[in-house]
Amino acid sequence: MSNKLALFGGTPVRHKEFYDGPHIGPHDLDRLKAVLDSGNFGGIPFPNAQHTAFVDLFTGLLGAPHGLMVSNGTISLSIALRALGVCAGDEVITTGYTWMGTAAAIVHINAVPVLVDIDPATWCIDPTAVEAAVTPRTKVIVPVHLGNQIADLDALRAVASKHGLAILEDTAHGHFAEWRGRCVGTHGEAGSFSFESSKIMTAGEGGFLVAQDEHVYQRMMSLANCGRKEPGYDSFPGRTLGWSARASELQAAFMIGQVEQHDALHAKRAASAAKLTAGLAEIGGFTPVGDDDPRITRRQYYEVIYRFEPAAWEGLHRDQVLSAIQAEGIDLEGDTFYPPVHKSELFDVDAAHWPMIAERYGERIGPESADLPVADRAAADESVWVHHSLLTGDDQDLGDILDAVAKVRAHLHELHDAR
Ligand SMILES: Cc1ncc(COP(=O)(O)O)c(C=O)c1O
Repeated sequence: MSNKLALFGGTPVRHKEFYDGPHIGPHDLDRLKAVLDSGNFGGIPFPNAQHTAFVDLFTGLLGAPHGLMVSNGTISLSIALRALGVCAGDEVITTGYTWMGTAAAIVHINAVPVLVDIDPATWCIDPTAVEAAVTPRTKVIVPVHLGNQIADLDALRAVASKHGLAILEDTAHGHFAEWRGRCVGTHGEAGSFSFESSKIMTAGEGGFLVAQDEHVYQRMMSLANCGRKEPGYDSFPGRTLGWSARASELQAAFMIGQVEQHDALHAKRAASAAKLTAGLAEIGGFTPVGDDDPRITRRQYYEVIYRFEPAAWEGLHRDQVLSAIQAEGIDLEGDTFYPPVHKSELFDVDAAHWPMIAERYGERIGPESADLPVADRAAADESVWVHHSLLTGDDQDLGDILDAVAKVRAHLHELHDAR
């Protein structure tokens, strides 16, 4: 490995892109054509074959009593919160280390997001911090199963039961991951999924909701369909202003193939993730986040998260090392995944638009609005994210990732010299 770093003009380890489009199944075209031939593209609640088939399939595999498909995994969170009874001014506790959409969904219904720190072991919401943040206004806890991790659902349930709160699991990353043998998303009163294009199952866009209680489900249906009440979702009192958040028949049709392909792709990703972790352990410098918690009976691999160990990199910062690895053609990510929510430029929340935040936050939610040292460290210095698209290729692809990391490790002096 005498070739110098690609960052400084050397030949990159890899020239080829990793495939990160959706995986197309053998029956996808037939199903899409059937929708086109039917002339019926609309989503719930119109009578349609693909939507019903997908909802039955996915809900059944998750082991949830009720499910519905919606237009994306952000509006699904807002719908779920409203269906669970959250009103303007109520507080919803969530993690400060997530895609900002988790917290935006709370703001979008004029509720108040309370961002808390993460568990240093898993980088998912810290149940002790949740307990400390509960007030008489708290209604719901929204954990996020981050990357390949699962939030401690036992500890969260204990806090929720003690204070009479509901749990809404943001399962945008965790389709078919299991906690104690049961899919995540089905442990809370409600669970929300995303089928956005980066996710392990995708229709380009899309979202999904599951509920344990029939009336919560019926309210979800109504909220997703402009507040209508129709047979099958009309047995709750009153009405409520809803959204137009239906998913189309074309999206549902495509999602059936995503489910059909899931297990084979999952097995591939699991095997790749294990090889990658073993290879990185030999090279040194990146350690896996999370331990072998026996309560996690199946992981998902939307992103595999590693912790950058600065001591192994001779004091260089994660971002210097990652830029060198990226220049070698391997897109391991750092600060893009994610800034802490209140520090994200996309989380632009002011009291002029969202007046209910004023009492807790003043004029706006900003970098000073929460003190989350563990999330800050993970985001700014420690996290290294490996997207699932890097794990669905062959051994050569995996070899390229390890070669790139090993090359940068062997050429640290070049990074030092450039400082
Ligand atoms: C943790 C988390 N929650 C919610 C969402 C929102 O999903 P969507 O992009 O489908 O609105 C995403 C995905 O982008 C996410 O990563």
